[in-house]
Amino acid sequence: MPEIVMASKSIEELPGVGPATADKLKEAGFSDLMALAVASPQALADVAELGTTVAQKIILAAREEVDIGGFETGDILLERRKSVSKLTTGSKALDSLLGGGVETQAITEVFGEFGSGKTQIAHQLAVNVTRPEEDGGVDGETVWIDTESTFRPERIVQMCAALELDPDEVLQKIHVARAFNSHHQMLLVDKAKELAQVHPIRLFVEDSLTSHFRAEYIGRGVLAERQQLLNRHIHNLMRFGDIYDATIFVTNQVQAKPDAFFGDPTRPIGGHVVAHTSTFRIYLRKSKGERRIARLIDSPNLPEAEAIFTISEDGIRD
Ligand code: GTP
Ligand code: MG
Repeated sequence: MPEIVMASKSIEELPGVGPATADKLKEAGFSDLMALAVASPQALADVAELGTTVAQKIILAAREEVDIGGFETGDILLERRKSVSKLTTGSKALDSLLGGGVETQAITEVFGEFGSGKTQIAHQLAVNVTRPEEDGGVDGETVWIDTESTFRPERIVQMCAALELDPDEVLQKIHVARAFNSHHQMLLVDKAKELAQVHPIRLFVEDSLTSHFRAEYIGRGVLAERQQLLNRHIHNLMRFGDIYDATIFVTNQVQAKPDAFFGDPTRPIGGHVVAHTSTFRIYLRKSKGERRIARLIDSPNLPEAEAIFTISEDGIRD
């Protein structure tokens, strides 16, 4: 696991940041020094109601505290790619669609209609992540942000029975938080970072990524704001994945095109923001009975292809 570098200062300690400004910044998602260091002066000025000169000063002070990185050569990047682990989904077909499993240090997004299996896959991953490498796991634990109250410990117990795992041990490795709104959802990423200091969190589930954002920001007038917040949130998740070598697994709903009542509702929520930041996107659809079809879309290095898997009593299987 990469070394965890803790910033020495809190944002309140930066020159020019009083308690009121700190609150406004945090509210807008600028909750750590890195977020401030890479912010634009105009964005800070807007959210915290500051002059751009003060905003610029805050940004420069934040940059002195954190390493904002620079250029890296391809060989170093290749070396880093080798540290990526792959977590089994429980289905060989689904694993091979993803190039061997769900990757750490990446965001995997599943979208599809109700009952297509998004939440079930998340449950299976939370079980599998606890297993040793030879069984397709990474000896890790899970943070689960639940926006729809669909996490079911009973289902974890069932899946553990099928794999002859101790259900209590596994349940103790799944840290679930209910997110009451999108703002709370964003704050929980910071909480998760605290948890990751003491537990080997290697899977971050957000079920779902978009439902609160969709419910709260309705209409054209707030679309830009929604996308901006969603963008910041997803980048926060991405950073979590990078720092803790964790798999980020998010679910997304689909929206029917308003004029295509009978059409296949295949457009995921979140538009370009979600599309461009997910490393892997999987579109799920129902087939006969327990069968489901997964289609990989827009992967950086894998062909667009489909896999068939099942959701049974035991969990996700071929
Ligand atoms: P939404 O959250 O409503 O959008 O759906 P989803 O994509 O998250 O669906 P979910 O993962 O909850 O899948 C639900 C489906 O999984 C059910 O319709 C069942 O087919 C299957 N399923 C869930 N629990 C069990 C179980 O205990 N046994 C079996 N055999 N199937 C189950
Ligand atoms: Mg669900």
